Amino acid sequence: MRFSIVFLFGSILYVNGNGTKRPVCEVIQVDPDNNSDMLLPLAIITDMDSKSKNSHSWYSTMKYGALAFSQNRTSSFIHWLGSVNITSNLNFNQKSMEMSDLKIYRNRLLSVDDKIGVVYWLRNGTAIPWVIASTGDGTSSTPFKGEWMTIRNDELYLGSSGHEVVTSSGEYINDDEMFIRVISPNGAMRTEDWTARFVKLRRSVGIHFPGYMIHEAVHWSDVHKKWFFLPRYSSKAPFDAASAYETGANILLSSSDCFCDTKVVHIGKSEPHRGFSAFQFIPGTRDEIIVALKTSEVPADPAKPFENKQFATWITIFRIDGTVILEDVSLDEGIKYEGIEFANVFQCL
Ligand SMILES: *[C@@H]1O[C@H](CO)[C@@H](O)[C@H](O)[C@H]1NC(C)=O
Ligand SMILES: *[C@@H]1O[C@H](CO)[C@@H](O)[C@H](O)[C@H]1NC(C)=O
Ligand SMILES: *[C@@H]1O[C@H](CO)[C@@H](O)[C@H](O)[C@H]1NC(C)=O
Ligand SMILES: *[C@@H]1O[C@H](CO)[C@@H](O)[C@H](O)[C@H]1NC(C)=O
Ligand SMILES: *[C@@H]1O[C@H](CO)[C@@H](O)[C@H](O)[C@H]1NC(C)=O
Repeated sequence: MRFSIVFLFGSILYVNGNGTKRPVCEVIQVDPDNNSDMLLPLAIITDMDSKSKNSHSWYSTMKYGALAFSQNRTSSFIHWLGSVNITSNLNFNQKSMEMSDLKIYRNRLLSVDDKIGVVYWLRNGTAIPWVIASTGDGTSSTPFKGEWMTIRNDELYLGSSGHEVVTSSGEYINDDEMFIRVISPNGAMRTEDWTARFVKLRRSVGIHFPGYMIHEAVHWSDVHKKWFFLPRYSSKAPFDAASAYETGANILLSSSDCFCDTKVVHIGKSEPHRGFSAFQFIPGTRDEIIVALKTSEVPADPAKPFENKQFATWITIFRIDGTVILEDVSLDEGIKYEGIEFANVFQCL
């Protein structure tokens, strides 16, 4: 049990009942006026879809390392140190641990599963269910497709793909994935309908239904007082499962709360198989520099778009004005990572 907080070597520790000290999982803070070299702890998490199952349980792998930044913030590299599996038995229709984001909130490292709508607290190799959400306005038995998490006013915003739910050939079903959840520190949840916001956002780049823009990477910036979106897919043509994997986006959209002043910036060259799956602002950069993950899922046979998908992930660093600092670096062959956070796993897990 926690009963006191002490400061030691710059990290917060708590002393539990029997006197053992354990560091607390902290949001990484860097003084933006300190222009020395930076070394920041970084972690990413997998969503291996149906491949998350391992005989009797499900697992997701967290890979951890450090992001190094030169004094002048123009060169950077990432050094990976190791990985750890997080396992769980909780499942929905034999699906589980399809993690799609990572976020430290109130000294806890959280992740969200995009198949079962559970926000977990990751700790000591296990995933502790914290809140569970259903899709849409909360009147359906379908789980929430949780794709992104961000913090605003000390509340956790949990968002979905932000486009109309359609059939594999593009026929409209409903607007459920345009609703989001806002979760308070004690786990209470409210629903917000973001349909008008997502529609206005994509309109700023000339996309109207049945065209689509699909989101997995969204953050609120307290510095800029704006929402930032790095879409995974975008297309002016109607959705078609057989070709959606070729509509990867390379744009950064930012907008204030009115969604009436959206700014669009192109990031790097267009690679239609790649789209953004997650990002974070790099601490100490006044939300000017982003580290992001891009993924691709290319079916071995385009005639069977849901089968035998080949996964790949890249990591990239760029300024919000579009200047690329680190070009796409490919990560482990065949692995899809969908969450990234500046977190010290030795303190958080
Ligand atoms: C103290 O607590 C830690 C973690 O809760 C545990 O690993 C350890 O065995 C405990 N030690 C004693 C002496 O009870
Ligand atoms: C700047 O950052 C470096 C590395 O993190 C640290 O050693 C140094 O003490 C910091 N300087 C100031 C003035 O905070
Ligand atoms: C920035 O720092 C890196 C590493 O120290 C160096 O290689 C690079 O030339 C510097 N760039 C500029 C524009 O000063
Ligand atoms: C995670 O589990 C998988 C499947 O059992 C295994 O192949 C992999 O080596 C494990 N990774 C770690 C870091 O333990
Ligand atoms: C961590 O997990 C191990 C087994 O996986 C268990 O023995 C240990 O008690 C756990 N520690 C804490 C602090 O929960």
